[in-house]
Amino acid sequence: MPLIPASLAFTDDGTPYSPTFDDVYHSAEGGLGQAQHVFLAGNDLPRRWQDRERFVVLETGFGLGLNFLATWAAWRDDPLRCARLHFISCELHPFTVADLAHLHQRWPQFAELSAALRAQWPVLAPGLHRLHLDLERVTLTLYFGDARVGLAQIVAQADALYLDGFSPARNPALWSPKICHLLARLAAPDATLATWSVAGTVREHLRHAGFVVDKTPGFGGKRQMLRGRLQPQTRRNGRETTALQPDLARAASVPFPERHALIVGAGLAGCALSERLAARGWRIDLIDAADAPATGASGNLAGVLRPLPNIDDNRMSRLTRVGTLYGWRHIARLRDAGHAVKADACGVLHLARDESQARKMQAVVEGLALPPEHLRQVEAAEASALAGWSVPLGGWYFGDSGWVQPPSLCAANLAHYASHIRTCFGRKVARLQHDGSHWQAIDERGELIARAPAMVLTAGIAVRDFIGADLLPVVSARGQVSLLAAAPGSPPGVVVCCDGYVSPEVDGQRCAGATFSIDDEEEGLRETDHTENLTKLDGMLPGFTAQLPPAALDGRVGFRPASPDRLPMVGALPAQAALGHSTALADIPRQPGAYVLSGYGARGLAWSEIAAELLASQLEGDPLPLERELCEALDPARFLLRPTRGGRIQE
Ligand SMILES: Cc1cc2nc3c(=O)[nH]c(=O)nc-3n(C[C@H](O)[C@H](O)[C@H](O)COP(=O)(O)OP(=O)(O)OC[C@H]3O[C@@H](n4cnc5c(N)ncnc54)[C@H](O)[C@@H]3O)c2cc1C
Ligand SMILES: C[S@@+](CC[C@H](N)C(=O)[O-])C[C@H]1O[C@@H](n2cnc3c(N)ncnc32)[C@H](O)[C@@H]1O
Repeated sequence: MPLIPASLAFTDDGTPYSPTFDDVYHSAEGGLGQAQHVFLAGNDLPRRWQDRERFVVLETGFGLGLNFLATWAAWRDDPLRCARLHFISCELHPFTVADLAHLHQRWPQFAELSAALRAQWPVLAPGLHRLHLDLERVTLTLYFGDARVGLAQIVAQADALYLDGFSPARNPALWSPKICHLLARLAAPDATLATWSVAGTVREHLRHAGFVVDKTPGFGGKRQMLRGRLQPQTRRNGRETTALQPDLARAASVPFPERHALIVGAGLAGCALSERLAARGWRIDLIDAADAPATGASGNLAGVLRPLPNIDDNRMSRLTRVGTLYGWRHIARLRDAGHAVKADACGVLHLARDESQARKMQAVVEGLALPPEHLRQVEAAEASALAGWSVPLGGWYFGDSGWVQPPSLCAANLAHYASHIRTCFGRKVARLQHDGSHWQAIDERGELIARAPAMVLTAGIAVRDFIGADLLPVVSARGQVSLLAAAPGSPPGVVVCCDGYVSPEVDGQRCAGATFSIDDEEEGLRETDHTENLTKLDGMLPGFTAQLPPAALDGRVGFRPASPDRLPMVGALPAQAALGHSTALADIPRQPGAYVLSGYGARGLAWSEIAAELLASQLEGDPLPLERELCEALDPARFLLRPTRGGRIQE
């Protein structure tokens, strides 16, 4: 369902108002006072977050984000604050960033926080969006869509619940029995709740879901408000519920108090994970057989970072969207921290192959109705203008996508929290063994390289040296790119894709690719592959190759770790076990402390940052950055459940 943004309106007294719900966003007597009295004090904050490592707030309706700003500001002002604050909120009708700027002017004391929030405010696309704020000490996880769907998909344990919909009479969906049950399921055993509403139906639904609620003095003219906590009985049941959902249990527990991991492989996958874990205070031993990071599949001059939309907004469509958006936000954060990442969100033009495909692409654009700055359809004339080259057909234009140089991203990831990351280059791991409490990485001479309680395989196609294809069906897909001499400013100035892709000029060259051949081990460049790349290029930009100097082409060969269903493998490594016919994913036994990030195939840039954030969140016990069903779609054990798509690997 496409998102419909909120429409900005005000009542006569200037209170923000929703024409859709015919109600005000906050008390006419002051939104900030209400946030502080009802939601913060109502949950006994700041006291309850003090001296804790992490505190998680879950809100039903984000609205203007005033409760969020007030909570963030109170947390900042508290010298005893918890180390990390997570704020999760749902919003069916998010405001545009321009409207938020307008609205937040009313609270000049939040100008700095509002600016930081708006700088990262996501494109108004459905699903979860994770923003890291305040030097990563504050994490905002926003679900854009209906909370009745979103709360069922969120994986977290909330310590404080903010129930903030429009009035139950005008917005019954957000106070429904279903919402109250979902909140109870997401509540930590000692969670509290607060809301300004004392409606009988709300109290009834909350009680029925297992909360004890009390009326206490309300804010401003409102005599009363509600505070609540889980009944002891529900807390017990809650534990049972958690036990029935091991994925949630895994996410919510902190199994690694030492916060120390060894990571095998310093490509896009391993460097991104090192950074995400180091950001959480983990110590990392990152091992690579090569003398530097990004010498394997991740060593190209330029790769494309863009989504792959689909008319049904299927898992690939949603995952590549969130991966792309999170990836670009991550690059912006690295740059803000002073690390150079060679990348440009210059726009990606995906041209239609023929008229029939152009119509299908148009239908996707209309069906998804994403903000046009993210995805729009362009006709041939506009496509030609964007490419700087005459093309016969239009297609998709992703205005906020572009190219990234993977080695520069890897280097920036390693530099960001460098003091937490010990790199062991030039050390090939020959064996991994578990000594009962820790994993040991042993080299070819039998020497210990590193030892840690958690071990993550990020060795690209070499994960197959450590785990059998019966447990993890990683396949090698050889790819060759051709490097073409390019003058600065020469067309195309955007990435152009169709059957292949070509980048703009990067350091005097452009990257055109790529071939894709399964289980093909030839390491040297092949003339036939250059010809294939040039044919694809000429198919996209007719006559382009005729302009190229006739000199022999340079290029690069890499071996992508591909996955049968084209989705990456992110999570705990399955263990050898006989599975029953009806074994659930969550019941598949795992190897203790062993994880994998692989199967990135042709989309390593779209997967690497969001997958690293997902695995780091799982290891740390943080709320997860992806919907439950998407996490399950990435679980490396999924291949043990169902036959793969005929085992055919696709680009
Ligand atoms: C030609 C080509 C074009 C591509 N174009 C794009 C694109 O446009 N957009 C996009 O998103 N993606 C693209 N990709 C895909 C992307 O580059 C890959 O998905 C990604 O690089 C995989 O990263 P990785 O970290 O899993 O593997 P790798 O980068 O291969 O990293 C694995 C690392 O493990 C190390 N290692 C292996 N075995 C051991 C061992 N025993 N001990 C220690 N270290 C070990 C290796 O030395 C290597 O550094 C392309 C790939 C290729 C080959
Ligand atoms: C009272 S406002 C919230 C104010 C907000 N907490 C703040 O601090 O600014 C209620 C919000 O809930 C949102 N909402 C209503 N129904 C929803 C639903 N089913 N799912 C998610 N959000 C919903 C509305 O769009 C609105 O933004």
